[in-house]
Amino acid sequence: MTDGHLHIVVCAAGPAADVTQLITTATQQLWTTAVTATPSALDFIDIQATERLTGHPVRSTYRSFPGTRRSLPAADALIIAPATYNSINKIALGIADNYAMTTVAELIGRQVPTVVVPFVNAALASRAPFQRAVANLRDERVRVFLGTDDGWEPHPPGSGDSRQKAFPWAAAFEEATRLAGDVPAGRTDRG
Ligand SMILES: Cc1cc2nc3c(=O)[nH]c(=O)nc-3n(C[C@H](O)[C@H](O)[C@H](O)COP(=O)(O)O)c2cc1C
Repeated sequence: MTDGHLHIVVCAAGPAADVTQLITTATQQLWTTAVTATPSALDFIDIQATERLTGHPVRSTYRSFPGTRRSLPAADALIIAPATYNSINKIALGIADNYAMTTVAELIGRQVPTVVVPFVNAALASRAPFQRAVANLRDERVRVFLGTDDGWEPHPPGSGDSRQKAFPWAAAFEEATRLAGDVPAGRTDRG
């Protein structure tokens, strides 16, 4: 018996190395987890540790075996973390040029409660495309965890390494479970 299933999409930024913290937190709260990584994020995460903790392979590509149906994982909530400048802009535009982006596009479209936790520096965050992306995602009822109210702000350029330790994994999980609790039972899709 679990409380829910959390799908985690990891992008290629420093905190990806610590996604095991989110998996551990979720597991302690009796949630199951699975991780999809962008192709670039594969270089940032400890794949073996992630697979051991989730009990599932880390997905980053479409299955290509003949006769294998691609199916979306079950998901009661989706956390995209760390979310890069690149992927946030793509998600907001609906670009689905890799398996992770396609998964995100579909899960948001299915109205799975979604939390995006950016890891961007202030220079990137000041760009108009990024600000539009955040606003557009919020218009789609995606929870973008960023700003004074969330206690999570873009960091000064060059300070990412020290900022990584403060990445708000626990707050992201809390927010995802809160949103999932607002969702009528049975709305998530199994594939
Ligand atoms: C060591 C390293 C650290 C990076 N850190 C960040 C970061 O903190 N935030 C970010 O948006 N991009 C960062 N990037 C750039 C992204 O990895 C790059 O834009 C990549 O194309 C993102 O791919 P993805 O969005 O598909 O995961 C970093 C790249 C490297 C090599």
